[in-house]
Amino acid sequence: MKGIILAGGSGSRLYPITKIYSKQLTVIYDKPLIYYPLSILMLGGIREILIISNDETIPFYRQLFGNGSHLGLKIEYAVQPAPNGIAEAFIIGERFINGESVVLILGDNIFYGSLEFFYRGIRNNEGATIFGYQVNDPERYGIVEFDGDGKAISIEEKPKIPKSNYAVPGIYIYNNDVVGISKSLNPSARGELEITDVNKEYLAKGKLKVEKIGRGIAWLDTGTPEALLQASNFFGVIEERQGLKVACIEEIAFYMNYISKTEFEIVINSIPNSLYRNYLEKVLRES
Ligand code: DAU
Repeated sequence: MKGIILAGGSGSRLYPITKIYSKQLTVIYDKPLIYYPLSILMLGGIREILIISNDETIPFYRQLFGNGSHLGLKIEYAVQPAPNGIAEAFIIGERFINGESVVLILGDNIFYGSLEFFYRGIRNNEGATIFGYQVNDPERYGIVEFDGDGKAISIEEKPKIPKSNYAVPGIYIYNNDVVGISKSLNPSARGELEITDVNKEYLAKGKLKVEKIGRGIAWLDTGTPEALLQASNFFGVIEERQGLKVACIEEIAFYMNYISKTEFEIVINSIPNSLYRNYLEKVLRES
């Protein structure tokens, strides 16, 4: 299973924060936003990861993660020249995906809580597995409608009159058909290759599973300055209370046995003196 983080886009809604760097590099409490989706892929056992972004931003991601080897990962990078739609990730990533299944996570999507829904999806996926999460403002998302037996019957992108409150979060699991399906799409009215059209295609073929995500999971929005502040406060409260960090990729690499204790020590020694380093030293001492 390969993993793609789509971390481009114009970010224009967050201007001027995004005037000089991309949204996925904005800070959520104590680390860049992209750490959160990266940590989800890592926890899902995915170690080969492609980060797709625009030309100007990729050097920043390279600076953050390099080739990923210090985390026991293999990280590659690819350019999306313009924000032509989420489904373009599979066309850009075709060579990287190389005939395998793939998880796509949007670089601005944050999940917190038990990830069992995701692990189960990875284990059991045959065609496509996506998720449904109840929201208050369904007109802002891809929306899935269920029948009385809980089976998905329709999906619409940002419907004016939503048929349900179940939004599709930006984490998607696909078999390799996704590449061909994405190539066959026509751009939507807003000029994008829509991920919702990919999902509709799987639905039409009877190969789409939509799993509802329950109340115990936080799926946080990062689309507005208020949402960024709320997300920062959320993780600030949790990290302060527990003394444990969320989305600490070095800790996860060690915890998942992607790197040995010696390699973990080397990583820690490369980090400047900081609260972050103190935390990792504590993790090492207590291991
Ligand atoms: O967050 C979940 C929602 O994401 C889904 O419910 C929708 O079905 C899906 O279309 C998407 O909606 P958004 O309106 O939030 O998509 P947005 O255009 O904001 O793009 C999401 C992220 O992906 C954003 O951080 C930028 C990045 N992106 C987007 C496009 C269209 C790219 O890197 N390249 C792109 O071409």
